[in-house]
Amino acid sequence: MSTENLIKMNMPQVRRPNFGLENNFSKYYADGNPLLSHILNSLHIVFPEGEKLFIRSVKYFQDQIEDPQLKARVKGFIGQETQHMAQHEKIWDTLESQGVTAHEFDKWYSKNAYETVEGTIRNVFGEEIYKRLALAVTCGLEHYTATLAEVAIDPEINALQGFDEKMKALLMWHAAEEIEHKAVAFDVMQAVDGSPVTKSAGMLLATWALLYYGAIGSVKFLLEDKEVKLADLPQIFAQKAPLLAKAVGTMLPKLLQYFRPDFHPNQMNNDHLATEYFDANQKYFQKAG
Ligand SMILES: [Fe+2]
Ligand SMILES: [Fe+2]
Repeated sequence: MSTENLIKMNMPQVRRPNFGLENNFSKYYADGNPLLSHILNSLHIVFPEGEKLFIRSVKYFQDQIEDPQLKARVKGFIGQETQHMAQHEKIWDTLESQGVTAHEFDKWYSKNAYETVEGTIRNVFGEEIYKRLALAVTCGLEHYTATLAEVAIDPEINALQGFDEKMKALLMWHAAEEIEHKAVAFDVMQAVDGSPVTKSAGMLLATWALLYYGAIGSVKFLLEDKEVKLADLPQIFAQKAPLLAKAVGTMLPKLLQYFRPDFHPNQMNNDHLATEYFDANQKYFQKAG
């Protein structure tokens, strides 16, 4: 079946790409800009633990899914997120060799987010509400990743212009698969808990977590970078300010749509971006099992 048809059916395909990134990308791979490189470095660390949450949150409800097609989509979703985790973690040692304290940040962040915060929610609200909220947070973050993916892939925005080619390939692949599976966790949530309160609470918690941990990692890596002088920061920021403003301006209305009572991720009308990407980049992929 063609990629286009599979995406239309929302059936995520598991791919095992090989981008050859280990020890093989420049420190400021994001168009030579330290700020944008460190923002993305923070996401390289934040994503894998987040993806573990996505996987366990849908697994909590896997037994309750009756629709065989949704069951199959969940399997594809878990397979794709597992690959994302592995591919991002693969570059942590290279980041360390470039002076980015990836492991230290991961240690703090995973303990804080997934032991302290998640553990407290579990203890305070009890197992049932915790599981529903975990799935709602996943759905909120999935809307963020699909929206961010749109900005990354859209040729009109051209956000990854000037990037190290191998890093660009990793980010584009992740972006395309986020678009491909954007509705899976949401459909699980609809099937097991249609409450708009849970949905909105999950999105608010997701927003806080992404901004909080994403910002802490970015600032930490930037301040620890001995090659970045304080006096250079305004110029480094000014270089990418138009792109960052465009990205936020494009994303904000799409993010707010999530709070509409009749919202569904398939309304985002971005499938063609993923289809075009996969059609043009088959060279990176061998199909997994
Ligand atoms: Fe992912
Ligand atoms: Fe995802």
